Amino acid sequence: MFYPEEIIEEVRLRNDIIEVVSSYVKLERKGRRYFGLCPFHNEKTPSFCVEPAKQFFYCFGCNKGGSVIQFIMGIENLDFPEALKYLAERAGITLPEPEDSEEKEKSRIRKEILDINKEAARFFFSVLASKNGLEAQGYLKRRGLTEKTIRQFGLGLAPAGWNELTEKLLSKGATSGLLLSSGLSVRAKNGELIDRFRGRIMFPIFDIRGNIVGFGGRVTDQTQPKYLNSPDTPVYNKSRELYGLNYARQSKSKKLLMVEGYMDVISLHQAGIDYAVASLGTALTQMQAWILKKYAEEVIISYDSDSAGQAATMRGIDILEKVGCKARILLIPDGKDPDEYIRNNGPEKFKNLVDRAISLLDYKIRVENKMHNLDTVDDKLKLLNSVADILAAHDNSIEREIYSKYYAEQYGISLESLVNEVAKRRKKLISANSRPMTIRRSASLGRGSQASVKIDSRYGELEYMLLVMLCNDNRLFERVSAQYGPENFNDPGAKKVAEKLYGRLEQNKNCVLAELLTDLDSNTASFVVRVAETKCDLADTEKAIAQILNKLELLKLEELQKQTIERIKNEKDGNLRQKLGLEFSKRAERIAELKRLA
Ligand code: UTP
Ligand code: MN
Repeated sequence: MFYPEEIIEEVRLRNDIIEVVSSYVKLERKGRRYFGLCPFHNEKTPSFCVEPAKQFFYCFGCNKGGSVIQFIMGIENLDFPEALKYLAERAGITLPEPEDSEEKEKSRIRKEILDINKEAARFFFSVLASKNGLEAQGYLKRRGLTEKTIRQFGLGLAPAGWNELTEKLLSKGATSGLLLSSGLSVRAKNGELIDRFRGRIMFPIFDIRGNIVGFGGRVTDQTQPKYLNSPDTPVYNKSRELYGLNYARQSKSKKLLMVEGYMDVISLHQAGIDYAVASLGTALTQMQAWILKKYAEEVIISYDSDSAGQAATMRGIDILEKVGCKARILLIPDGKDPDEYIRNNGPEKFKNLVDRAISLLDYKIRVENKMHNLDTVDDKLKLLNSVADILAAHDNSIEREIYSKYYAEQYGISLESLVNEVAKRRKKLISANSRPMTIRRSASLGRGSQASVKIDSRYGELEYMLLVMLCNDNRLFERVSAQYGPENFNDPGAKKVAEKLYGRLEQNKNCVLAELLTDLDSNTASFVVRVAETKCDLADTEKAIAQILNKLELLKLEELQKQTIERIKNEKDGNLRQKLGLEFSKRAERIAELKRLA
């Protein structure tokens, strides 16, 4: 561990798992657990649960589980020390410097890349300002950008030559390894390093804290690709970043406006719409949706209205709905992107469009509407059926009612028949959705541990069950440890956990499972939580423990029997053979006894 155990435990205790998970997943209380849609796999009915009393989460669908730290590692795609830092920050705890050298090395590399990116951005900016940049300046001016905007977004120009930046950075002492891992340089066929970005207008990509994590570069002619982007690096992951968020998060507006491109964000900010961000060409990812939700009360999607943009909007809607984020859709007339629209119509007109952004429900129905001509009765029927389906799937009952009224009128049918139809479908939907939950649950029970978990297939489960039981009831410690000490554990992972737990309990300190989970890699943590949630019936802990101990003894004895048989086969000495035979039959008696008990 990189940090003292007490600190790790303090961070865990000060971050209530329900609170933390709730900022990513909409949770609903059911008995002692909270349920929601699993953020780690795609699903339509909730099989993801959080146990407030035990402070861990578990998904019956994909079997992922762990403490609040593993949750953040998974959802924010962080490693352990990063997740710890994140949660410490959230709880206002100051962490000491990490002691681990590997971790220090990683953070050194990240820092070096950020430094070199900053250096590169300065270089691009100065090239744009120089006389070699006159043409590019003209291009940006023609596109309506002011000096101030260019400075605010740190735009620059990558020179047309092969390796000007690379040479400059090398001469300043950067290693070729660093140049390659930052993505600024690539290796040419002849083995030499050359610049990745050549003859392009450069858009630095800032993270939330304002670090430059990568670049996009645009040609000023028709060359393809139009934009070239940094690859993913130790500091840049394109599915996590949102271009412009470093500024948009400081906006007074509680909204965020999602657009597609660099130029859209820049034009919007220049026009005073300072809450625009872009997902940079990729469809909105779940990670980005969580980030949006964290920074905004409402998200307005304004993608291109071409078919690709429409598909991206639909996907975006689904993802935002899934994370429980309020969203509306802004439609731009005649298929322009926000940048073009503002240049042609001015900011005020665009702000009007923002105010008139439509609901997700409305958008879905409009898209459906566009697919039908309504010139035959049959076509109209198809449309109304789809509309009823869309309404039925919508959770907000007030909106369901209002829209039912609206569409009944719009399509000239009675409100009553539409309402009845929607109610019928909704009932079906709900009952269909509640069933798979139990089916999936039993299916996952049968699947057993995932292959990726390196856990002893015979002993692992039983030994972890024992540990889970002990965590649930620390008072059982004396009985269990008398029969099964840490030295008896066969699964190496379980043995380590046992050493910690037993050590704790020996000193009369309490210990809960979530605390032990924190030390485990995410696969093992998931395995242990699965054991806790699905295998450990706590109705009669004492009896359950006795059974586990019996099974473990049985396993061990059977293993010894096999070894003894081998030894008897190979033993030449008659006396010894006889002794072994005696051992064998004694053990056989005990085995028979244990089997009777089982
Ligand atoms: P667009 O083609 O809509 O770009 O792609 P744009 O932002 O409107 O650019 P201009 O106005 O022509 O300058 C939207 C986004 O998709 C990504 C970029 O992030 C771009 O901003 N993209 C597009 C690429 O990464 N590569 C490409 O070749 C094209
Ligand atoms: Mn554009």
